[in-house]
Amino acid sequence: MHDEQHALPRPGFHLTPERNWMNDPNGLVFHRGRWHAFFQYNPEGGDWGNMSWGHASSVDLQHWEEHPVALRYTTEEQVYSGSVVAAGPGGRLTAYYTSVSTDGRQAQSRATSDDDGLTWQRDPDNPILDRGSHAFRDPKIIRYEDAAGFRWIMLTVEAVERQVLVYSSTDLRTWEHVNTVGPFGPTGVVWECPDLIPLAVDGRPDELRWVLLLSTNPIGDAQDPDGSSMSYLVGDFDGSVFTPERAELQRLDHGRDFYAAVGFDGAPDGEAVILGWMSNWRYAADLPASPWRGAMSLPRRLSLTTVDGQPRLVQEPPAFVRERLAAIEPTTVALSSDAVDLALDGDGVAELRWDPSITGELRLRLTADTGGAVLIVHDPTSSSLAVTRSGAAMDTVHPDFASTSIVPLAGDRPTRLLLSLDGPLLELFVDGGLATVSDLVLLGSGRPTLTLASERASPVSVAVAVLDRVPATDQVHAPA
Ligand code: FRU
Repeated sequence: MHDEQHALPRPGFHLTPERNWMNDPNGLVFHRGRWHAFFQYNPEGGDWGNMSWGHASSVDLQHWEEHPVALRYTTEEQVYSGSVVAAGPGGRLTAYYTSVSTDGRQAQSRATSDDDGLTWQRDPDNPILDRGSHAFRDPKIIRYEDAAGFRWIMLTVEAVERQVLVYSSTDLRTWEHVNTVGPFGPTGVVWECPDLIPLAVDGRPDELRWVLLLSTNPIGDAQDPDGSSMSYLVGDFDGSVFTPERAELQRLDHGRDFYAAVGFDGAPDGEAVILGWMSNWRYAADLPASPWRGAMSLPRRLSLTTVDGQPRLVQEPPAFVRERLAAIEPTTVALSSDAVDLALDGDGVAELRWDPSITGELRLRLTADTGGAVLIVHDPTSSSLAVTRSGAAMDTVHPDFASTSIVPLAGDRPTRLLLSLDGPLLELFVDGGLATVSDLVLLGSGRPTLTLASERASPVSVAVAVLDRVPATDQVHAPA
């Protein structure tokens, strides 16, 4: 057991459960003015197990209220990941989740809620899709409409086969298997938590593409020590067949801790908003936990933009972050090789802009009282940003915890970096979200110090905003 002294400071503007284990976001849905997030949850402890759906909701994606456990495990059934859609005028929510039976069989089941997700009725016909498989999971329901009319599409994985099975339904009850995507890409991984999100390239509705999101986790011998990660593919979708434009999977986040992200159903203004679990199966079980273990990322708004003739995924922080930064007049800091303290006085966000042809190498360092450190280095000659986390507190978590993530940058031109730090959650949005880095960082509970230095004397534009910390006890209604 880890003692309180080594507990991670609880984030203030991210979703964490008041206590116990949490992994994947499930059933993300915007419904009657609230963002609902269900999540993989152990109601009884800080380790993975007794898998159930926890539940929280928010009006602004910043402050979350935790509700009673929504779908509880039984002696016959573990409740794995899945999704929720708000369907029909009565405001009924329909959930699909993976039932894992005692013999390890994984099949898809259904439940409905008529009270905004607080209580759920399981379908007496469950499971409604059963292939006798032990790795058939993570149903994601999306909406699809063309000249033939409206239908629901369910994406599930055959995780070990590295395939996405596509099903179609007009009534959310009976499902027809219409296609299978994959396998492709690296072997030695399972595919988990698929999603397929329509996005207009450069905001042009006549240039619609479908973005397949995949979470992949190493299996077998000689596993990649980097562990879990997410990838995406841009392509076309005709209601059954997904046709990628290019065969290679693109890395979705360059850090170590962004997994199982999927989109919200019914987000306002047709926006695409995803939420991910900020951990990695490589060491998730080894993280200090007391009383909570597991956090969600900042919600991210997705779009597609053309870079070098190809559509690239752009991930932006949520409105509450963008608005806070937009309200601040950036200051210009005169930099040199002597580090300048940026006075990030608590948890918050900082936005920096610099011209690497003037600054030369730029070094950003985060430190706090455990001796842990994060070093972010922009080396203009390599057109990359290197993010390294190190220190004794991090080394004791797991031998593979210390890491360096390399973020490819477009080149030697002005660069923009949005840094969010909330307790142990570090998220970087580079160049307006063309690349992201999400890392858990063990810096301790004291005030973190953010310093900046450059190779050559130069001006750097800096905006720093501290985000209000809502005490967990006021924020969270303890689960029943
Ligand atoms: C992904 C995952 C899913 C599964 C769930 C179990 O992190 O392995 O495939 O449904 O977690 O908790």
